[in-house]
Parts: sequence; structure tokens; C-alpha cells
Amino acid sequence: MADDPSARDERWQIRIRDLHKSFGAQQVLRGVNLDIERGRINIIIGGSGQGKSVLMKHLMGLMAPDRGQIYVDGQDIIGLGDVAIAKIQRKFGMVFQYAALFDSLNVVENIAFPLLERYHLPKQEVLERVRDLLTRLDLAGMSGVEQKFPAELSGGMRKRVGLARALIDRPEILLYDEPTTGLDPIATKNVDEMIRRTADDFGVTSVVISHDMASTFRIGDRIAMLYEGVIVASGERREILAAPNPVLREFVETSGAVHFGGGAS
Ligand SMILES: Nc1ncnc2c1ncn2[C@@H]1O[C@H](COP(=O)(O)OP(=O)(O)OP(=O)(O)O)[C@@H](O)[C@H]1O
Ligand SMILES: [Mg+2]
Repeated sequence: MADDPSARDERWQIRIRDLHKSFGAQQVLRGVNLDIERGRINIIIGGSGQGKSVLMKHLMGLMAPDRGQIYVDGQDIIGLGDVAIAKIQRKFGMVFQYAALFDSLNVVENIAFPLLERYHLPKQEVLERVRDLLTRLDLAGMSGVEQKFPAELSGGMRKRVGLARALIDRPEILLYDEPTTGLDPIATKNVDEMIRRTADDFGVTSVVISHDMASTFRIGDRIAMLYEGVIVASGERREILAAPNPVLREFVETSGAVHFGGGAS
């Protein structure tokens, strides 16, 4: 069957079907259906409290749904045991909103942390991998950066260190939860470029949660909107720009970042 979500599909790396999640009486996800395309930047937009972070936690198996399926490379990850889910989680890297670095570890130790935790690699190999990432992420030029502690870095540098840590284990899929929140427009643009370059250079599948419409339309290949527990619109960037869904249009137009064509305004 062409659209069997349990079949490994070269185009869709993650397929979410009828995902439901409630907290007590509050129904947060009410039947989410969404496909995440391999190798591209997939952005999920939506207002505060709509369930974007909850949805992202389900993708990595950090939260269990009440019902529904999530297929990663064709494998349903819901209800897997600890060992199997740990294996799935190795496909993912997560870039947290506030970088979430360890204050007492320096830059090298922070980036190397996932490797040291999981594998017993020779120290030299770990250091080489860290240095390679520092170079690729434009952090290497700064003198003494390897020995600096998070408190000694700027916000933009911390974000890049956080990204380096998410990349160190060479994930296939990178999840970013609101990567530009709290940054000024220049820093936002830098982070956008970093996400774009990471996608292009490493060939990863990116899933980005955002309510920054300027960023979304600058870097998103595919865009989906979560509203009242369901995906109300999803598709290629140009399809989303042309989509008639009124909730989507209001959300995007209110941001002021993008103006839909066609109407007299
Ligand atoms: N562990 C939890 N227990 C109870 N309620 C939760 C839990 N996690 C999230 N919620 C609730 O689920 C709803 C959606 O939360 P979520 O963090 O996914 O929103 P969001 O779309 O990411 O918002 P924002 O853009 O502000 O980050 C909120 O009402 C929140 O209070
Ligand atoms: Mg959130």
C-alpha cells in the first residue's frame, strides 16, 4: 500500500497518526496527524499552550500518548520497552530552548557529555569530534573557547554549544524547541542560518517548533500549524502561504512578518 504509515518510506521519516493526549480533563492533543519529511526543515507553529512541546516530547518517546501511533522509519514507537526506545532515541538530537548546558562543565565537556555517557570512546577521538563541530559551527576561532564555562558565553554562543551537543552523537533527526525565543533579530537570523546550514551540511531531518513567523517563512521547507489539538494545515511553504485556513491566516498575519498575497489590503 502506498500510504501505509508502517512501511519504511524514503520520503517520510516520522508519521504521526491520530495522536491523543490529555492531562486530567484537559485534552491537549485531540487526534494529531502529521508527516515529517526526511532531510528537510519541518516547522510546527501554533500559539502558546497549544501543545507543541507536548507533541515534540512524544516524537522522542519522552511522553506516552493516550492513543495513536508514531512511526519512526516505519516502526511504531508507542509501547516499546526501554531498550527498544533507547535505540530509537539515538536517532534523535534535541536542542532545548535555553540550551540547558551544565554550568559546572566547560564547553568541551558539555559537548562531549552524550558520548561519554553512552560509549567508551578514546579521549582523543572524542576531542577530535568536538573540535570538528566547534569548527563547523564557527566556534573554533574564539581564543580559549574550549575551556570556557556556560556563564562566560553569550546567548548565541550557548545556543551553538547546545547544538553541538545535540549533534555530537550524529543524530538523523534534530528537534528544536523554540530555538530563537528571547533572541534579538540579528541573533535570530544567525540561529536560523545555523539551522539551515546544519540541515544542509549534515543532511539531518529537522523538526522546529516556533512561533516566530519571520524565521518560519525564512527557513521552513514544510510548515504545519497545531491548533486546538489538531493539525489544521500542513504542507510546503508555498502551500501554507496560499492556504485558506482562517486560523492560520490570522496567526501569520497578526505576526506582521508575512503578508498573504491576493487580497486587497
Ligand atoms: N506534564 C504535564 N502535566 C500537565 N499538563 C501539562 C504537562 N505538560 C504540558 N501540559 C499542559 O499542556 C498544554 C500544552 O503545553 P505545551 O508546553 O505543549 O504548550 P506549547 O504549545 O509548547 O506552548 P509554548 O509556545 O508556550 O511553549 C498546557 O496547557 C500545559 O499546561
Ligand atoms: Mg513549548
